[in-house]
Amino acid sequence: MAAALSFKIYPNSNPTRGEERKKLLKTPGFGKLFSDHMALVHWSEEKGWHEAQITARKFLSLDPASAVLHYAQEVFEGLKAYRSQDGCVLLFRPEQNAQRFAQSAKRLAMPVLPEELFLDAVTELVKIDRNWIPEGNDASLYLRPFMFASESFLGVRSAKEYIFCVIASPAGAYFKGQGKPITIWVEKYLSRAAPGGTGAAKCGGNYAASLQAQALAHEKGCDQVAFLDVVERRWVEELGGMNICFVLDKNTLVTPPLGGTILSGITRSSILTLAAEAGMKVEERGYSFHEWQKDAVDGRLQEVFACGTAAVITSVSRVRHEKGEFVIGDGTVGSVAQGLRHKLVSIQHALSNDSYGWVRVINIP
Ligand code: PLP
Ligand code: COI
Repeated sequence: MAAALSFKIYPNSNPTRGEERKKLLKTPGFGKLFSDHMALVHWSEEKGWHEAQITARKFLSLDPASAVLHYAQEVFEGLKAYRSQDGCVLLFRPEQNAQRFAQSAKRLAMPVLPEELFLDAVTELVKIDRNWIPEGNDASLYLRPFMFASESFLGVRSAKEYIFCVIASPAGAYFKGQGKPITIWVEKYLSRAAPGGTGAAKCGGNYAASLQAQALAHEKGCDQVAFLDVVERRWVEELGGMNICFVLDKNTLVTPPLGGTILSGITRSSILTLAAEAGMKVEERGYSFHEWQKDAVDGRLQEVFACGTAAVITSVSRVRHEKGEFVIGDGTVGSVAQGLRHKLVSIQHALSNDSYGWVRVINIP
């Protein structure tokens, strides 16, 4: 067996000054601020995974013929690092991200990054950039591992060279309303993913395919788009960047099943566990847009919420569609969403018992 690859560390010789960093961390927003370092690993058919390093964050230089720029061979992940009260760094279920990354890579005919290497890259990066983790329960260091085809070749086939990279971005709330409920546009014509396609993979192409519908949602005054299945245009699938859950009859949690067209969210799976533990009836089943409208009108539907790493758990207050709109419950943050969010965030920040072993503690010497 090949010897395990270890990361060479090349600290940034010109890091952001402490004062400046502290100022920036007060209002991190989402996805616009970046830490001082990044992790990089290369892959080639000849050498396999090689040159693992943590280095100063810098521009990547790419040949214009790099395969990713033409055929979109790219996959990514999203996870968060939190700061514990005793100064440790915490990661939430990172091995799940490593596994999903491997599955996404397989679907895009890319080499599979060993789980250990994924976890080492993330761990080494958060160790060196630990001072970029903002304070507070709504704040974290969002980690974005990604891999793309870097080979210069225009023939259409799986590339023979790749770059794996992890960058880190201090993050506050994903939505501007800071915890206020969001509104959703239900898209009937534009599709995100089809059976047999790449919907279950976390690849850039899925997001590119969702952007026109997301822009339409904004035009309609909504925060997120909800996609329906492409075969019957009937079943609710997921949102542009998160999964969706429905609370019916006060104690039943319904969420669309994983059938190859939606992303298997780690937040979704954690919520299903926490809801069942809290005594809720949990159903992974098809839920049609027709049922959604009917249940909202009949009062059977109390809550709807979006869930994902970036969104955490965010209530939905209002739904718009081509024929009108309707309100969910009383249009405020629901108590189930609030309760589940509190449970999840408390585990993520090591403020409550981690009975499922979800949190990986990184001790900083
Ligand atoms: N669905 C989509 C399309 C997403 O982009 C995300 C976010 O990563 C999710 C679902 C939720 O996945 P997770 O909870 O693993 O972040
Ligand atoms: C995440 O939650 O990690 C995502 O990839 C979704 C995107 C809205 C940033």
